[in-house]
Amino acid sequence: MINISPARARPAALLLPQVLCVMTCLGAAANAPRAADVPQYIAWSRTTNVAPPGAPDGYLQFQNSCAICHGSGNEKPGTRALAAKYKGAVPALLEERTNLTPEFIKYTVRHGVTVMPFFRKTELSDADLDAIASYLAQTKTKPKRSHP
Ligand code: HEC
Repeated sequence: MINISPARARPAALLLPQVLCVMTCLGAAANAPRAADVPQYIAWSRTTNVAPPGAPDGYLQFQNSCAICHGSGNEKPGTRALAAKYKGAVPALLEERTNLTPEFIKYTVRHGVTVMPFFRKTELSDADLDAIASYLAQTKTKPKRSHP
């Protein structure tokens, strides 16, 4: 049995909170996730996008990964480049195109084209790319409006 005289016990008791605090801090540092453990994503969108109710699958993924370049507006590099490439023969907006196949979209996204970067699977999963491809290709099968 350890015999601590009251005179010695007091300073030891005063130190206890400090000791506990240091131990907690060291423990927290050891348990903190290392950079390598945290999933890293390249965010192509500066805002948090929310899909409106009823939005098709792939809509949100398109907003997150593609719209920063392929959204509407002449300042968007993708839209601008496609306007220059096709000179109005097809819409500059990918979402308005009716001649895109899922294969072409997926190939372009995985390989890049001129200044469009290629997307690694760690940046855009196969599942998300499938969703985007079917979302953009869907417009192809959309029935043409028979009246204005
Ligand atoms: C950093 C800007 C940028 C991002 C992000 C981007 N693109 Fe592009 N994309 C471009 C540019 C610029 C072009 C035109 C390249 C050219 O032909 O000069 C293009 C071209 C394309 C084309 C070829 C269209 C055609 O008819 O030639 C497809 C398909 C495409 N992008 C799909 C996507 C999809 C899907 C995403 C999201 C996963 C995406 N892009 C993200 C910039 C971007």
